[in-house]
Amino acid sequence: MKALFLVGGFGTRLRPLTLTVPKPCVPFCNKEMVIHQIEGLKRAGVDKVILAVNYKPELMAAILKPWESKLGVKVVYSQEMEPLGTAGPLALARDLLLEGPEDEPFFVLNSDITSEFPFEALLKFHKSHGKEGTIFVTQVSEPSKYGVVMYDEKTGQISRFVEKPQQFVGNKINAGMYIFKKDIIKRIPLKPTSIETDVFPKMAECGQLYAMELEGFWMDIGQPKDYLSGMCKYLTALQNEKHPENKILTHGKGIIEPVIIDPTAKVGEGCLIGPYVTIGPKAIIEDGVRLARTTVFEGATIQKNSWLDNSIIGWESRIGKWVRVEGFSVLGRDVRIADELYINGGMILDHKVVKETILTPSIHM
Ligand code: GDD
Ligand code: MG
Repeated sequence: MKALFLVGGFGTRLRPLTLTVPKPCVPFCNKEMVIHQIEGLKRAGVDKVILAVNYKPELMAAILKPWESKLGVKVVYSQEMEPLGTAGPLALARDLLLEGPEDEPFFVLNSDITSEFPFEALLKFHKSHGKEGTIFVTQVSEPSKYGVVMYDEKTGQISRFVEKPQQFVGNKINAGMYIFKKDIIKRIPLKPTSIETDVFPKMAECGQLYAMELEGFWMDIGQPKDYLSGMCKYLTALQNEKHPENKILTHGKGIIEPVIIDPTAKVGEGCLIGPYVTIGPKAIIEDGVRLARTTVFEGATIQKNSWLDNSIIGWESRIGKWVRVEGFSVLGRDVRIADELYINGGMILDHKVVKETILTPSIHM
């Protein structure tokens, strides 16, 4: 089976991390975002993934190459010359999607979401009703940022799909994960087209679109605050012993669970780490450091007695001694923070050397 990922845009809301790598390759709990999704798809029988891209495909290909053999999933790229929206890429990748048996459905995914990805259940439900498409829905408290779905809770049939409603119509929203019959391609022209505003409402009108309630947690992790909330939810879900990744959690002295520390990272004496922390490969956490609700990417160093909360520390960045970082600070690659500073909500671009305290949330380049 196949899956197509929508990987457009520049991921501006996740800068500065997306200045270094495309959004789907930003690490999330020590694995590229998209890898978590591919693992879920693999469990449902997907063996070929099409990345619909219009941004840095070479870099993405290099980052994802090693995963192909590790996961046994082939990754191919379908590159747009102009952004085709959220449906146009299906028309562009038409030949790839039509390969194989005629009655074999394919998955389509937004690339900036986290959940437990129960695609086997989606496939089963899709086959059971026999219509053209099925989408996962989830409940949120602020539906205006999403696509709202109104459907019959008994059958799952969708009556209305409203993208980013101005007025309240419901709180069950499109979770950005779909499965379609090959027939859907006939509906989509090869030009910029939105699946949410041009395609779904029409499918709903003729009774061809169904909804399935997603079990477990869900989060769009395309911006720092939500990325960190998504991390907390993901780590909490890992604590379930039945979760396939449960074993990667780290336990022991100085740890407030749940926490993931890569085995190649070094953690000094007298640190207190957690809850909700991930530490990437080859990171160095010196003695007496306190980390909570924070992710530290590959190769970063946190020097002695620093205190970090609610922050994302980019690749190879270096935090000095007795530093305090908090308030959804996001450091890009190779950022340096001098000793004894206070950083509150700093968005700090790659290679910047910070020598003064940042008191209020702001961008630094
Ligand atoms: N290839 C390609 N080309 N991909 C694109 C393009 C494009 O022109 N435009 C957007 N995408 C991709 C994005 O990278 C993302 O993976 C997905 O399409 C959705 O775009 P977002 O910009 O993230 O949309 P959103 O978050 O505002 O809303 C969407 O996601 C919500 C769930 O997170 C919608 O699908 C909503 O209905 C949904 O509720
Ligand atoms: Mg999004």
